[in-house]
Amino acid sequence: MHEIYTEFMLQKMNNIRMNKFQEDAKHLSSSLNVSGRFSFQKSAMKHVVVDIANKLSLRAEDSLLDIGCNCGDITIPLSFMCDSCTGVDGESAIERLKKRTQDLDNVSFIVGDFSELKIEEQYDCILIYSVLMYIDGYDNKRNFIKKACDLLKPGGRMLVGDVVNTSVKERYSNSEVGRKIDKEYKHQLTNLTQEDIIKSENNVTEPFDIMDDKKVCDLLLEIRNWGYESFLLPQSVELPFGYTRQDILIKRW
Ligand SMILES: C[S@@+](CC[C@H](N)C(=O)[O-])C[C@H]1O[C@@H](n2cnc3c(N)ncnc32)[C@H](O)[C@@H]1O
Repeated sequence: MHEIYTEFMLQKMNNIRMNKFQEDAKHLSSSLNVSGRFSFQKSAMKHVVVDIANKLSLRAEDSLLDIGCNCGDITIPLSFMCDSCTGVDGESAIERLKKRTQDLDNVSFIVGDFSELKIEEQYDCILIYSVLMYIDGYDNKRNFIKKACDLLKPGGRMLVGDVVNTSVKERYSNSEVGRKIDKEYKHQLTNLTQEDIIKSENNVTEPFDIMDDKKVCDLLLEIRNWGYESFLLPQSVELPFGYTRQDILIKRW
């Protein structure tokens, strides 16, 4: 009974977070803010798409599923590099993505919570970027990734990107480099736009569910036990939170 209740509460938490993103998609003007980033990270975002395409080895003939695509800051540029692109997210984020992709004939949409959706198709590449920390509890994260793995075509690649790891953060914060960069970051935080402030207040009221070294390593091993290959990759420091985030690359034979 206790476990079922806990499971229910964790799922509810994910719904609350998803709903917050849908509200932001309706009310905030900057898509950068809607997707959870600050306006001063705009130029850093330019590196994200290239980094993802490289890590996924994305090819012109590939089909791509972008789970938690928000209103498409990453989905849209990636759609130019592959054959077809399907975005999954809540209603308002997808509505906004639809408006932005009216002239693109290779972008399609699935509305809903991925953990509850029934998706029949399989994909060459799957992206889950900056999403894992909004899924509460290790088991729910694992089930989410397993469900996505099962949608990979043979030879398919999946990137679970921008993973927050509290152990990495701790090592970084205790290092000389970390202290220096944090000082610069705090300085940038004194120059926020009104929408940056709204978004960061949302993040304080709905804090992330963060992994640590043990959970990340357990996850890598579990993915291998399911029959896939899994790798932990560093992020380049040019990326918006590149000093402290990591990516998990999964390959299906
Ligand atoms: C921080 S944003 C990242 C958006 C985009 N991937 C990017 O990096 O720009 C997280 C997105 O994941 C979506 N999301 C969270 N949980 C989800 C779930 N269970 N199913 C589908 N989307 C989800 C949220 O609605 C939100 O739009």
